[in-house]
Amino acid sequence: MFSVPLGDDARLEPLEVWQAREFADHLDRAREHVRPWVGPAFIADAAATLKRYAERQAADGARLFGIRHRGTLVGGVMFTDFSAAAGSCEIGCWLEPAGEGRGFVTRASAILLDWAFTTRGLHRAEWHCRADNDRSSAVAKRLGMTLEGVRREAWPFEGVRYDKQIWAILAPEWAARDR
Ligand SMILES: CC(C)(COP(=O)(O)OP(=O)(O)OC[C@H]1O[C@@H](n2cnc3c(N)ncnc32)[C@H](O)[C@@H]1OP(=O)(O)O)[C@@H](O)C(=O)NCCC(=O)NCCS
Repeated sequence: MFSVPLGDDARLEPLEVWQAREFADHLDRAREHVRPWVGPAFIADAAATLKRYAERQAADGARLFGIRHRGTLVGGVMFTDFSAAAGSCEIGCWLEPAGEGRGFVTRASAILLDWAFTTRGLHRAEWHCRADNDRSSAVAKRLGMTLEGVRREAWPFEGVRYDKQIWAILAPEWAARDR
């Protein structure tokens, strides 16, 4: 119902429990593409994922938003973690292949960061990704985040343990960035 323009005929909007059928169809298009790079629970069961996010949002925690391109759900961004008390959050993202290469996730993540820092007064936003996820770390870099460290072999996937990067940006850095 409410949505924010992302440019190029794309919009960012809430992704809610009633949209489970559409989210499941989208995940069927996205699953193999995102599987190595996201937590297994996110793609396992579309309805359960939407319900989990709705419950956490009701407690002012995690939140999920869809990215629509010309009406079709092509991906999204989320607060995988959000704590007003701690003043910090973590942002995550995904796209099906048709949504890549257009800047949607960078622009959508910037909207989440603006809301977290400006509207909610948070101080710190993190971005976690597998160290070999070049497209994801490129988004963190484009958002002006700093690579703070690497958790060694912290990301198990199909019998291999991968390094995990922690990127972050602070509220004053976000306010001072070149727009
Ligand atoms: C990570 C992921 C979301 C990044 O997608 P992406 O399309 O590279 O990121 P964006 O939507 O920000 O788009 C950036 C791309 O669009 C291009 N672009 C076009 N217009 C742009 C604009 N106005 N602003 C920014 N970038 C723009 C950029 O040049 C870049 O393309 P390039 O990498 O070929 O140079 C995607 O690869 C994905 O879903 N991967 C699998 C799941 C995953 O890894 N999730 C993250 C877990 S940590």
